[in-house]
Amino acid sequence: MVLIRLSSALLAAATLARALDHNKAPEIVPGAFVVEYENDMDTKSFVNSIDGAKLRKDLRFELFKGASIQFADAKQAEKTMEQVAEIPQVKNVWRVRSYPAPRHIVHSVGDAAGAKAAVLKRQSANDTFSTHVMTQVNKLRDAGITGKGIKIAVIDTGIDYLHPALGGCFGPGCLVSYGTDLVGDKYDGKTKPVPDPDPMDNCNGHGSHVAGIIAAQSNNPYGIIGGAQGVTLGAFRVFGCEGQVNDDVLIEAYLQAYEAGSDLITASLGSPSGWADDAWATVVSRIVQNGVPCVVAAGNEGDSGLFYASTAATGRGVTGIGSVDNTLAPALLSIGSYAVDTGASKDYGFTPAGEFDSWTTVTYPLWAVNYDTSDPSGGCDPYPDSTPDLTNHIVLVRRGNCTFAQKVQNAVKKGAKHVIVYNNVAGVSSISAPVAGVLAVAMVTGTQGADWISDLKAGKTISVTLPNPVNVTKSIFEFVNTDSPGFVSGYSSWGPSFEMDLKPQFSTPGGMILSTYPRALGAYAVLSGTSMACPLAAAIYALMMDARGTKDPKTIENALSATSKPIRWQARPGDLNSTLVAPVPQQGSGLIQVYDAAYTKTLLSASSLSFGDSDALALSNSREFTISNTGSSAVTYGLSHTGAATGFTFATGSSLIPATYPGGLEVSASYATITFSPASNFTIAPGARKVITVTAKQPAGLDAKRLPVYSGYISVSGSDGSSLVLPYIGAAGSLRATQVLTSDGGWVARNNDSTNLRVPDNTTFTLPPPGQANNTAYFGRTSVPKVVFTLAFGSKLVRADVVPLDNCTTSAKNATVVLGTKTIGSVDNFPSYYNVRNVAGDFAEVPWTGKLADGTYVQPGRYKLAFKALRIGGNPDVAADYDTAESQSFRVQYATLTKRSTTWKRRN
Ligand SMILES: *[C@@H]1O[C@H](CO)[C@@H](O)[C@H](O)[C@H]1NC(C)=O
Ligand SMILES: *[C@@H]1O[C@H](CO)[C@@H](O)[C@H](O)[C@H]1NC(C)=O
Ligand SMILES: *[C@@H]1O[C@H](CO)[C@@H](O)[C@H](O)[C@H]1NC(C)=O
Ligand SMILES: *[C@@H]1O[C@H](CO)[C@@H](O)[C@H](O)[C@H]1NC(C)=O
Ligand SMILES: *[C@@H]1O[C@H](CO)[C@@H](O)[C@H](O)[C@H]1NC(C)=O
Ligand SMILES: *[C@@H]1O[C@H](CO)[C@@H](O)[C@H](O)[C@H]1NC(C)=O
Ligand SMILES: *[C@@H]1O[C@H](CO)[C@@H](O)[C@H](O)[C@H]1NC(C)=O
Ligand SMILES: *[C@@H]1O[C@H](CO)[C@@H](O)[C@H](O)[C@H]1NC(C)=O
Repeated sequence: MVLIRLSSALLAAATLARALDHNKAPEIVPGAFVVEYENDMDTKSFVNSIDGAKLRKDLRFELFKGASIQFADAKQAEKTMEQVAEIPQVKNVWRVRSYPAPRHIVHSVGDAAGAKAAVLKRQSANDTFSTHVMTQVNKLRDAGITGKGIKIAVIDTGIDYLHPALGGCFGPGCLVSYGTDLVGDKYDGKTKPVPDPDPMDNCNGHGSHVAGIIAAQSNNPYGIIGGAQGVTLGAFRVFGCEGQVNDDVLIEAYLQAYEAGSDLITASLGSPSGWADDAWATVVSRIVQNGVPCVVAAGNEGDSGLFYASTAATGRGVTGIGSVDNTLAPALLSIGSYAVDTGASKDYGFTPAGEFDSWTTVTYPLWAVNYDTSDPSGGCDPYPDSTPDLTNHIVLVRRGNCTFAQKVQNAVKKGAKHVIVYNNVAGVSSISAPVAGVLAVAMVTGTQGADWISDLKAGKTISVTLPNPVNVTKSIFEFVNTDSPGFVSGYSSWGPSFEMDLKPQFSTPGGMILSTYPRALGAYAVLSGTSMACPLAAAIYALMMDARGTKDPKTIENALSATSKPIRWQARPGDLNSTLVAPVPQQGSGLIQVYDAAYTKTLLSASSLSFGDSDALALSNSREFTISNTGSSAVTYGLSHTGAATGFTFATGSSLIPATYPGGLEVSASYATITFSPASNFTIAPGARKVITVTAKQPAGLDAKRLPVYSGYISVSGSDGSSLVLPYIGAAGSLRATQVLTSDGGWVARNNDSTNLRVPDNTTFTLPPPGQANNTAYFGRTSVPKVVFTLAFGSKLVRADVVPLDNCTTSAKNATVVLGTKTIGSVDNFPSYYNVRNVAGDFAEVPWTGKLADGTYVQPGRYKLAFKALRIGGNPDVAADYDTAESQSFRVQYATLTKRSTTWKRRN
């Protein structure tokens, strides 16, 4: 049986949402390149014509003609990017990069029974799903707008299309009507993709959750409603069960989705970048230019602060989607029961700890170590001697400032086998307490705990049944989110891009979202991430297409941006009262209001304005946009300006330490001064338009070295009641003048040292002989270095050149001068392109076996590395445009084998 609870208890799951793992910058796939042809040609003969190249993927599509190729292994010298670029038929070349599977927080999951359960939560006639109410999706749905007939391609982990709420079938006529599996279950980014036509998701879950947010049907027990129930979905599966995806697979998926006639493409994946021109973002950008909108999750690296936009959301014209936290925090809980004295049985919800196989359903009286519901450390100390034998009790203890395990341990010492922890913040979370001797551990809400404590205090007996969670169906509880309702999710990545383009474009609810999940993994789940925000934006695009009768990416983006609701600043969860507006590079234009967007008669020609950095502003301090009155009567408009909080890229005091969110990111209420032309109100006739000039003066008195990013909104109010916003950004400092690499920013560490410590000067590394890196005979005989660098700010190009320090070797004699440095060549896999800024404790690291980018190996000898990082806007051919760093000196030699085993054989 499924119970439906609507509780007004409190929840602080938002703090959990901040614990999201940090995604690293994308990795390079050695020797692999994506090339775009100058003119279309036969890929087979192209690859055959290049010495040492093997075909990875033929990428010949309507919008892109090219291939991905692989230069082979040890025997065959790997080509550099420059060498590949010189092949006459090649127009563009990029290194193949690999991207991690989308990360998100799992708050709670359902169970297999949930998928089969009867529909118990009847929807009222109108849509009351909280994320829909927040974005006005409910108003369009109530008006009968469902995105009917719109085809949305979902590039993800596949979709469990057999899930009843996801249509129950695959193919024409089904909800999931098209798509394919480009990779197979075992693909992890390192293995070869094994495509098959079936995009089933039964081992990951991410894509099935995304699909439900877009289009879940109402035949589900938890009241989940897809944002656009009339669409059909295309499932393009690009992840195996675990691991990464290479961008040649992503490019292929996008181009296939485009050619399958998709009306829009959504992807809840990416990786920190900041740059618009990597291979993947370039292809996505081209699809948008050809009329198909692409929405991409902004990324989950909000903790890294400004200029940390994720690719492919960074692409030009690509719509980046930020996340706000849900106003409700749904949770799928197991149900137990209890009775106070001889009273009637009542139910309570709990999350079980996962590690107990011997959990059996028990009923025991509740016992509490103390009755203080504000004790920060209840149960952290050993229980008093007066404690009774707790074997036949369920121990109730408050969550506090020692570990769950310590609390459980103290109860077990007095004989307890069953422990319930009540929360010290609102709501519940997943819990783990592997302690020998305990049979069951569960968590309940603080509210439930306080009710029980008050009865215990009054001398009542509480008999609690704690059922084995596998025996009970999970039920939905909806807690009110009192910490961050409607605020930008802490994990949502910040822009702008290094090109000073605004990212993200706007935000939708992505924090604490209930949706479908593969039947094999629990059928329903509550997850958080910009991954959960992006699909609601996709549904919203479909509603816009349906309501406005246009599929034009720019028209839809501009209307959604203009009608969004700016969100107030929240320095950390629980801070609800700031009067500042959140920085535009955090929220974009704000929270989407799709009903207003669907029916606005006033349209703006842009979704945002960028004044660039202070150098760009000095060249020209005004930007233009156009207001169009598409209504049937004349409207008088007035313009005004609202500043949003200015955020600092670098922390106070020591420049070049990144300011990270929340703790380290300072904001200021110093705003730009914005003036308009025309300065006074004006009237636009029906069907007419007017060009507006906006002039900015950057905020004064801020430390330009800290690269403050200012932002705000231009408000357009019409006499017809229309009220639109146009967000703008600018940097009150020079990107070009911002140092990207400090003189101690590059060094050599030991490959097996995860902390990347600088090794002492003259450390000797013993490398496997050239081409023998995989030869097990050398295992244990070698010590391999790692090339490490850390960037204070993004750099399009980082070099690591090997400088000989012994002058007598032949390689030293062959040294040439590159950008002022005498070098025998570049470390293999360098230069490194489109590098992200590194936040504290974050490095780019490349193991090195002595191989140079031209495929040769360094001779034994003493060397150092010269690092060069190109500044933003710098010319790659000008040495002065780079910041430089030098590694310590080090020695390399090659391992040799002793011949004992072979000589022994000969003697026989
Ligand atoms: C070494 O082994 C790895 C993993 O098995 C493989 O991908 C790589 O190509 C091998 N390298 C060489 C030089 O044989
Ligand atoms: C349902 O939505 C319609 C259209 O927005 C509205 O007119 C009606 O009042 C709503 N009904 C309820 C019960 O809220
Ligand atoms: C736990 O809280 C108590 C009471 O505030 C405090 O005295 C103690 O130092 C805290 N312990 C830890 C480990 O934070
Ligand atoms: C609970 O589930 C377990 C494992 O499936 C089963 O062995 C047991 O009989 C069930 N107990 C009840 C009371 O249903
Ligand atoms: C925020 O303002 C409300 C209403 O004025 C007040 O009740 C609440 O205590 C304030 N919260 C904080 C954290 O200051
Ligand atoms: C100008 O427009 C604003 C916003 O519509 C309005 O509040 C104001 O009264 C208008 N002023 C004039 C002089 O029309
Ligand atoms: C490293 O070796 C060089 C050459 O042998 C020597 O001149 C130098 O002093 C050494 N540096 C350190 C720190 O030992
Ligand atoms: C190697 O030659 C460079 C100049 O070519 C010189 O500065 C350096 O001192 C020489 N190093 C040694 C170890 O002789």
